[in-house]
Amino acid sequence: MERGDTTVKAKVTVAVCGGIAAYKAVELVRMLQDAGLDPHVVMTRAAEEFVRPLTFAAISGHQVITGLWSESHGDDSANLSSAIDHINEAQTTQALIVAPATADILAKFAHGLADDFVSTMYLATAAPVIVAPAMNVNMWEHPATRANLDVLRARGTIVVEPGSGYLACGMVGSGRLAESQEIVAAVVQALQPASDDRRSLGVHQKLKDLVGETVLVTAGGTREAIDPVRFIGNRSSGRMGYALAEAAHARGAKVVLITAPSSLEAAAGCDVVQVVSAEQMRHAVMDRLPEATLVVMAAAVSDYRVVHVAEQKIRRDGPLVLELEPTEDILREIVARKLPETVVIGFAAETENVLDNGRAKLARKGVDALVVNDVSSADLGFDSEKNAGSFITAQSEVEIPPMSKLEMADRILDQVAALRDRKDQQVRSRSEG
Ligand code: CTP
Repeated sequence: MERGDTTVKAKVTVAVCGGIAAYKAVELVRMLQDAGLDPHVVMTRAAEEFVRPLTFAAISGHQVITGLWSESHGDDSANLSSAIDHINEAQTTQALIVAPATADILAKFAHGLADDFVSTMYLATAAPVIVAPAMNVNMWEHPATRANLDVLRARGTIVVEPGSGYLACGMVGSGRLAESQEIVAAVVQALQPASDDRRSLGVHQKLKDLVGETVLVTAGGTREAIDPVRFIGNRSSGRMGYALAEAAHARGAKVVLITAPSSLEAAAGCDVVQVVSAEQMRHAVMDRLPEATLVVMAAAVSDYRVVHVAEQKIRRDGPLVLELEPTEDILREIVARKLPETVVIGFAAETENVLDNGRAKLARKGVDALVVNDVSSADLGFDSEKNAGSFITAQSEVEIPPMSKLEMADRILDQVAALRDRKDQQVRSRSEG
């Protein structure tokens, strides 16, 4: 069992409104579950025209509420319980997620109308409200809809903007329901306790904020053969990379761990690829790069390899000179080949002028961020249980004090999650502009 599973799952409510995108709420409910949440579903009358409540009941494992006055209840006591369901639902939920949110429900929310279960629940809840609109492009761009959204935003409602493309109505433009992954990310962020509270929860967060990400992590020190029994290696144990793989997996990511020889055991659920040399690591990384949304290059890759590897064991016979040639820079190749939205994090083990060398390396390698650590101290960094360092980007620098490598992995992933949000916004505004 994973550590996160021992906690009570947070209840959230998905309000499904009537639109062709209602069927996408089925996937959303699944992904919210994957994110460690307990989604309950409520539906408007119109939504039932698109998806049957039974589908949501089967997936969520909870009764689906479809109206203020349940028709299926024959006796008065049942009707009374149905009439106060919206209060109960509103008070027990941690978040109200409206997906798809129609122009109609946005107008009802903005004006405080309460003539069905969803609009009544909206008025009765103090939980964060996340709306993911989906509608025809003209309806989306209509001044009435814009004004309603402005009112809601001013009230603190989180709006997950629709995407652009072909719409069900046959038109092209904005109005397509945002990807489920984006909606889940907004929910997770809305539920995220302040970072101080989170730290008190322990190493791994309750919430799985990396659901939908495929994280490619490299670990360990590569080995370059000299002859069949000898190699050039380094002091890396692989602990930092293995900790990153474990933390990313615990936060809901799919993890591919490409590891040079290490005595460590990878966390269950990680897809492990074993390599030995820098060249093998390079091939494995390039092979898996297309599926990665985040790459963390924590391996200590050999900078040189032996030009002529002896076929037989070299005998001790006077002085020996080995000719070495540089290996390929895997990180630079990743940056050159990756998709624009893939986030790439490098590591830099430095022994002097740590931050200055780190900043120069960040620019040289073209990565989104670099974790720089000082490996001159014996009790930190290489082959040690603990680590410390700085997470540097072109704009910022966050110091990570000495802590266990597993804790540090979580700190790094906190920074990466923030970086990912900024990067998504950049990619989106570039593609719109
Ligand atoms: N790295 C890589 N391929 C290499 C060497 C290093 O991808 N052939 C990656 C490491 O995994 C790490 C980052 O580059 O994420 C920085 O590694 P480091 O050894 O500190 O930097 P170098 O590029 O080797 O630069 P130098 O040794 O000159 O400081």
